[in-house]
Amino acid sequence: MLIRRTRGWEIPESQVTPENAFLARRRMLGAGAAGIGALALQGQSWFGLGGGGEQKLPDFAAGDPSLPLYPSQRSMRYRVDRDLTEEKNAVTYNNFYEFGSSKNIWQSAQKLPIRPWEIRIDGMVEQPRTVGIDDLLKALPLEERVYRFRCVEAWAMTVPWTGIPMRRFVEFAKPLGGAKYIRMETFKNPEVASGQRASWYPWPYVEGLTIDEATNELALLGTGVYGKPMPRQMGAPIRLVVPWKYGFKNIKSVVRFTFTQERPKSFWEELQAAEYGFWANVNPKVPHPRWSQATEELIGQNGTRVPTQLFNGYADFVADLYTGRESEKLWM
Ligand code: MTE
Repeated sequence: MLIRRTRGWEIPESQVTPENAFLARRRMLGAGAAGIGALALQGQSWFGLGGGGEQKLPDFAAGDPSLPLYPSQRSMRYRVDRDLTEEKNAVTYNNFYEFGSSKNIWQSAQKLPIRPWEIRIDGMVEQPRTVGIDDLLKALPLEERVYRFRCVEAWAMTVPWTGIPMRRFVEFAKPLGGAKYIRMETFKNPEVASGQRASWYPWPYVEGLTIDEATNELALLGTGVYGKPMPRQMGAPIRLVVPWKYGFKNIKSVVRFTFTQERPKSFWEELQAAEYGFWANVNPKVPHPRWSQATEELIGQNGTRVPTQLFNGYADFVADLYTGRESEKLWM
């Protein structure tokens, strides 16, 4: 099956919109549009967006009932040798196909209702159950961790995530001994997510991990960024953060975790298995079929490119997970 439709993060790096051009275009659009309407009225900060332009961003955490839980204690175990990406860049440069295929979806994502938010835990578990996000946040610990984030498109950010160590979530779910994988699913609601009206995509977005990956100490269920609850465009109220894998594994706005014996087929694998596989570990030596993965552009740093690292720099934590799997497509 060869599907060739324009998907923002699939274009060669030479064609990926340089961020300053993207921001300039957004400034022009923003200037003409009432755009964010009521949200703009709640806005609390002015962000310069380069080149002297300014745009008011709303307070994305306004009204979020989990606000008192933030900021959480930062773990100093996960240090990075890079500057943090500025918040204004991380919250306005996103991939969230449910809301469109450009990077500029932050306004449309504000339509997503994030309370109530029920999470279904089912499949091979002692007792299938449904838990509301606020009950989950009460039951499990939160911590802040700064991680590198590497999109398959060859851009990168450094983000202070807050979240639940996924290992703790797996304990909470009580899987049965035979479960080998966790299949995760995003909401499906074409009424608010206009991208889901595009019938050629296999909605809902699905991703998967092995139980060993999910219980690796790095795997985090992200519930916040920059010391505040997660903005909708970044996957509120709960998303996956697996920093040694390409960004598309980091499924957003999850509503279901299914423990299973079968390897789940992910959204992008379903669309284009020759280019996007199950493992998707970062490796600078294995090019994407249509572009190099040797370097990456740091978002918000005037086009600065740096070498990409094996497992995105996290080999010490995760390389052992793949011993004995060398014959598989670990790098796509
Ligand atoms: N999750 C859902 N549900 N829908 C998506 O389109 N895009 C993925 C991933 N998770 C995506 C998703 C891709 S391709 C990337 S690079 C990251 O989210 C982007 O995360 P960010 O916008 O927070 O940087």
